Amino acid sequence: MKSLRCSLCNFRVIFFALPALLFVCGVSQSDAQHHQQPPAPTGPWMNASLSPDERADLVLKEMTLDEKIALLHGVGMPTDDPVTPENAASNRGVGYAVGVPRLGIPGIDMSDAAYGVRSSGVNGRYSTALPANVAAAASWDPETAFEYGALIGRELRAQGFNMTLGGGVDITRDPRNGRTFDYLGEDPVLAGTLVAKLIEGTQSEHVIGDIKHYALNDQESGRNSVNVNIGKRAMRESDLLAFEIGVEKGHPAAVMCSYNRVNGDFACENKYLLSDVLKKDWKFPGFVVSDWGGTHSTEKASAAGLDNEQPGKFFYSDKFKAAVEAGTISQAELDEHVHRILRSMFAAGVIDYPRQRSVIDPFAGFAVSRKIEEGGIVLLKNERAALPLNPAKLHTIAVIGSHADVGMISGGGSAQVDPIGGNAIMPPGKGATHWQEEIWFPTSPLKAIQARAPNANVKYDPGTDPAAAAAAAKGADVAIVFAYMWASEGMDLPSLTLPHDQDAVIAAVAAANPHTIVVLETGNPVTMPWVSAPAAILEAWFGGNDGAEALGNVLFGSVNPSGKLPNTFPKSEADLPHPTLTMPPPESEHFSGPVSPEQRAAGLPPFQVTYDEGLKVGYKWYEAEKKPVLFPFGFGLSYTTYRYSGLQVAPGETVKATFTVANTGAREGTEIAEVYAMLPDAAGEPFKRLVGFTRVKLDAKQKQTVTVDIDPKYLSIFDEAKDDWTLVPGDYTILVGGSSVDLPLKVTVSLK
Ligand code: BGC
Repeated sequence: MKSLRCSLCNFRVIFFALPALLFVCGVSQSDAQHHQQPPAPTGPWMNASLSPDERADLVLKEMTLDEKIALLHGVGMPTDDPVTPENAASNRGVGYAVGVPRLGIPGIDMSDAAYGVRSSGVNGRYSTALPANVAAAASWDPETAFEYGALIGRELRAQGFNMTLGGGVDITRDPRNGRTFDYLGEDPVLAGTLVAKLIEGTQSEHVIGDIKHYALNDQESGRNSVNVNIGKRAMRESDLLAFEIGVEKGHPAAVMCSYNRVNGDFACENKYLLSDVLKKDWKFPGFVVSDWGGTHSTEKASAAGLDNEQPGKFFYSDKFKAAVEAGTISQAELDEHVHRILRSMFAAGVIDYPRQRSVIDPFAGFAVSRKIEEGGIVLLKNERAALPLNPAKLHTIAVIGSHADVGMISGGGSAQVDPIGGNAIMPPGKGATHWQEEIWFPTSPLKAIQARAPNANVKYDPGTDPAAAAAAAKGADVAIVFAYMWASEGMDLPSLTLPHDQDAVIAAVAAANPHTIVVLETGNPVTMPWVSAPAAILEAWFGGNDGAEALGNVLFGSVNPSGKLPNTFPKSEADLPHPTLTMPPPESEHFSGPVSPEQRAAGLPPFQVTYDEGLKVGYKWYEAEKKPVLFPFGFGLSYTTYRYSGLQVAPGETVKATFTVANTGAREGTEIAEVYAMLPDAAGEPFKRLVGFTRVKLDAKQKQTVTVDIDPKYLSIFDEAKDDWTLVPGDYTILVGGSSVDLPLKVTVSLK
């Protein structure tokens, strides 16, 4: 309660100082004038007992060619564009497709919302910044993912949007990918399970859900031009599996195709990805929307399965109409696109529950954000029980580095959520936030620490000079050194080394004070040449707008950490499948001068990236290559300890793994129990894979027997000859434990 009050009063101060941030989620007067709702829909399609498909067909029957075409494209980026007749009804997000006003079908009003609703500050509104998606992934908690998505859905709706552009699930093939924070880790089963729940949460608020970026957008460098080369089996068992689970279990209304090429074709005109796999094999009934500017053709994209071009209308407006009139695109193909869009609107409920602006509850948002961060923080090291801190024993605390006096860093790009009151370290007078700059949320670890150790003298050192930092740390009862690595869409990290000489600062502080705690604020794995020196290490990710309170609760033990790594932390870049990231040649980087229609269609000239590691992504790679890692996938400590016993595996249609987890320590905790499988030799995959997991909440000394159901697909391989999943008959070893390298229980069963 104390921490809640503390964070809220900070919030209030900033809040009321900011005239632009209207608590009522207001819109400007001129905005409001443009927000005329279409008439309430009244046609036969409003019979809610009909299926979304039937309802879509009833609307479709009434539509003119122009109305159909209008549903296939965007009208620019209302956030940046002046108000026009076409975008006037929009909510000034990044994308808008006009609906069918004559028939009462609303426009599709899209906003980025990866870890919160984007551009809220610039639009005079407010939204909660959740911890980065990767932090939520570290909770390995489907319920957390649901809550994450539901909060985003609620706030989108309250602002007036009816479609999210969240749901990022590209798996971590290269940990230097600048959007690693935007995604849910390196394992397809973990990421797919969580994204499905996130989508379910968002759609439960009657907002069109989205999953992106389909597919293999695994590096940002040259994302508009790169051609990813990868075999079918490899992609189906790795990157595509995350989407398959997300689509089949989460039922997103929309899929966003990515910028890059895959095996020769742009993802947004890739028949294999869009038609053969997504629409036919996975039976995806919704619509495919292009990433922003990711459309490159009319006929080819349409035939491949792209339904909606965003944000503009270069290929899917006049050119599309002309193609229909000329017969190069059939009426049936056009109707199929329109049907998919309409049926998704009915399925998500955006027609039955028209948008209605309301007041966002920032206090509820803070509470959700903090809870998710508390469940996502990963305790990587804790020697001699250095944590949790006992305030009664602390007289002096040195807080060092990373602007920990005023804020915590966030991830950049289209995911960026505007911080309350502006960038916490922005020089006064600097304007609105840019999509690619370091933005610090005003959540102060220093204050959170001081509040929990009121009698201690808490000093701050900026951590810019190793000697000064060491001097500040020396003699303090505890030194808490913060280090960060900012990351953003549109760029990759040059390396996994902490920037700004922070390694030297940490090493100097740890050498000066044996009771040094390192707190990392990163979205990506980082290397730690100093790993043996500090007493404790916490990975706090990008912690959202109440990150400091969450961190304070973990540091001082009112929350027992339970998060586990969704990404492997390698020892060095030399151990990665591709030690050097392939960068685009200059001509593949961007067009020089104005882009001609021909250039737009052809796209930037490709450069090749070949994923010859295939399906060996993350921990599978390190295991297969016998490369020891810094911190393994699935690893995370607690303030208590657990013991596993009694594994029994029941074969059957769904294999069931039953085992007991005991809390052997003196305080309550939640253990994430992980289930892996080794396939029979004939499968040709001599490394394990995650096939299930569950969270077990235990009081001190309590034990519980749990059962994890293993989806048969997670034990199967993708057989290219059959073009389908197949279970290889033979012996399967099921392993259970607390991380990918600590699996004390093992049972082999024969499956056919
Ligand atoms: C990003 C998408 C985003 C879109 C709209 C693109 O640059 O890749 O994730 O949804 O912009 O902002």
